[in-house]
Amino acid sequence: MTGKVALITGGASGFGAEVARQLVRRGDSVVLLDVDVEGGEQVARELGGHFLPCDVTSYEEVMVTTAAAEAIHGRLDLFFLNAGISTGCGVDEDFDLLTYRRAMGVNLDGVVFGVHAALPALRRAGGGSVVCTASMAGLTGTSFDPVYGANKHAVVGLVRALGPGLAPQGITVNAFCPGFADTKIILNIKEVLDSSGVPIIPLEQAGAAVLQAFDSPDTGQAWLLQAGREAMQYRFRGIPGPLAEDGSRAQPADPSGVPTA
Ligand code: NAI
Repeated sequence: MTGKVALITGGASGFGAEVARQLVRRGDSVVLLDVDVEGGEQVARELGGHFLPCDVTSYEEVMVTTAAAEAIHGRLDLFFLNAGISTGCGVDEDFDLLTYRRAMGVNLDGVVFGVHAALPALRRAGGGSVVCTASMAGLTGTSFDPVYGANKHAVVGLVRALGPGLAPQGITVNAFCPGFADTKIILNIKEVLDSSGVPIIPLEQAGAAVLQAFDSPDTGQAWLLQAGREAMQYRFRGIPGPLAEDGSRAQPADPSGVPTA
């Protein structure tokens, strides 16, 4: 029994609902946010949790529902910023402005607004954990959905930027980066995936990986999950530091290769 309180966006189905189930099973409470009112209410009923309608593309809705969620239990300890959509929107002849704005709105703005609303609540709780759902598409090129790849890389970049600075406040921020998993987001490509023999991550394994990221003391990490493998922290190569005119290192670099100030 951990007795924590979690806010979950995209909680009406897929990863969101599964993580909610696993958290409730271990004694946590959940407040689910989603645009799917019927689905969200159903999952909340099933788990004895709460549901609040929220479109994460709206800054106001995210702020208001986060405050309402905090008021329900008097605190929030865990944030799973997970609502997302796939679009198939490219930037060539397949570009569509509304689809592009919607994709960036849900997958990137929704996470940024969520973190912005989460931080003061987590400080009031004395610390806590944020897991943002990115994707394996946030770590590698995805030619079938370039805009999705762009906003998911942005989520990974956000998490890496925030992690170290928030650690002294007892707040961890990590990204969840799964390959194809068994949720309704892959329904329209499921046949192709099946016929190409691409292994699909079972929902339970995905949920367990998110709980692992919540419970880890590590921060600023991208947790990669592939079918058949344990969740792992993806190792970035680091970047070479700058050189002075004489070819020597201009400044000391830290072990990841990122120059220190
Ligand atoms: P899903 O479609 O089952 O769940 C997504 C949920 O987000 C739905 O309940 C939907 O109503 C909600 N949602 C969509 N737009 C919203 C908005 N504007 N405001 C609030 N809620 C909204 O799919 P899944 O797979 O559980 O998706 C969750 C996250 O996982 C997404 O960010 C997705 O990009 C990511 N992901 C999924 C993978 C997969 O293969 N299933 C692989 C990698 C990442």
